[in-house]
Amino acid sequence: MKKNKNTKNWLTKRNREHFFKKAKVHGYRSRSAYKLIEMNNKFKFIKKESLLLDLGSSPGGWSQVASEIIYSGKILAADIKNMEKIKKVNFILNDVNDKDFYLKVENFFNRKIDIVISDMAANTTGNKNLDSYRTGELCLNALDLASKVLNEKGVFLSKIFMGSIFNEIQEKAKKYFKKVIKYKPLSSKSESKEIYIFCKDLSKI
Ligand SMILES: C[S@@+](CC[C@H](N)C(=O)[O-])C[C@H]1O[C@@H](n2cnc3c(N)ncnc32)[C@H](O)[C@@H]1O
Repeated sequence: MKKNKNTKNWLTKRNREHFFKKAKVHGYRSRSAYKLIEMNNKFKFIKKESLLLDLGSSPGGWSQVASEIIYSGKILAADIKNMEKIKKVNFILNDVNDKDFYLKVENFFNRKIDIVISDMAANTTGNKNLDSYRTGELCLNALDLASKVLNEKGVFLSKIFMGSIFNEIQEKAKKYFKKVIKYKPLSSKSESKEIYIFCKDLSKI
């Protein structure tokens, strides 16, 4: 039993180091970049002409990945923490829960968009249940925003932590979207409760 646990810890550590080193070599600002690459390989939703909103974008790994694929589209990224410039990515320093944030998104794109991605996570307090709840609240707000800014075929992809608020997120996602899929990327730490929810095709409410 002990041996199995040690082997698992060793593999987890090796996995983490692997993605950390890889991110350094490829110049990505976060190991999270590999989660988006993996999810895009699976769901193939980012296209060269996509209009994409990246919520909780700093330090910028996901925006870097999106900017490598998107040529004729547009990318808007937002975070409460600053983000160093990435070519083809427009950044706004903004709490995405602010009332006027929706208007800023509308003004920037001037039409309904294709993709909202959110890797937002609340600041950790040390209390895992509270942290997962607060990150879940960010996802619920992002879902409301996505339902307003996305076009009919739009995609919403968001980080969540399995926990007490999960059912509420799933219910809201199913209310807004026809397709809702949970996905745990290989590059996400296996011991973490982090998973992603991929939603597609807005329902007419
Ligand atoms: C895990 S990091 C995102 C990493 C990013 N996807 C990348 O690849 O570099 C989570 C981010 O969510 C941001 N965040 C948390 N609450 C937010 C809010 N209310 N509005 C905007 N950003 C927020 C944090 O500041 C943090 O930068």
